[in-house]
Amino acid sequence: MSADGRGLGVLLSGRGSNFVAIAERIRRGDLAARVDLVVSNKADAPGLGAARDRGIDAVFLDPRQHPTRAEYDLAVADALRARDVDLVCLAGWMRILTPEFIQQFPGRILNIHPALLPSFPGLHAQRQALEYGVKVSGCTVHFVDAGVDTGPIILQQTVPVQDEDTEESLSARILEREHDTYWRAIRTVLSGRVVVRGRRVTFGAAK
Ligand code: GRF
Repeated sequence: MSADGRGLGVLLSGRGSNFVAIAERIRRGDLAARVDLVVSNKADAPGLGAARDRGIDAVFLDPRQHPTRAEYDLAVADALRARDVDLVCLAGWMRILTPEFIQQFPGRILNIHPALLPSFPGLHAQRQALEYGVKVSGCTVHFVDAGVDTGPIILQQTVPVQDEDTEESLSARILEREHDTYWRAIRTVLSGRVVVRGRRVTFGAAK
């Protein structure tokens, strides 16, 4: 852990708008943290460029250079540990992490998902929600465990589903909400007030 316990590592595979929203909250002074490293498994992920534009270290780690998923994940973990990151934030990381990775950062990996878990885990969550016919959806920030979108829930925010919604319009509404949710969840976790008992995450007095 770094001296002040506030270094973030961000893993992303694409656009990186959640990463940008976090970086922007840090810049504005709303979130007392730093992004120490951005890692992508895609060389052309726009999020890598967004990080470099902000002077943040950003690396592409090529899955094809590693024979197994576990070995790839250990390379990612090594990069994060070399920066001594305190929290690992998945922000559109389109790979399932191996137990080998998760064990290295116990209780210190967060993910954001564009639905109200446990409804609609996995891919195309917004489309799943629309097809199911729910009237409310939203986003979830949760701790990462070995399952897909199954870890203890830290924070959720809702959005309405409107009659005329398409997958695109609902996704855009949820994304806007995601940008307001992730940094708040990170702030709470960094505050040291989080207590995890089984599946329940509660917020005690500040340490
Ligand atoms: C977001 O919808 C996030 O919830 C999901 O992947 C998407 C990433 O978007 N896990 P971005 O790359 O942060 O713009």
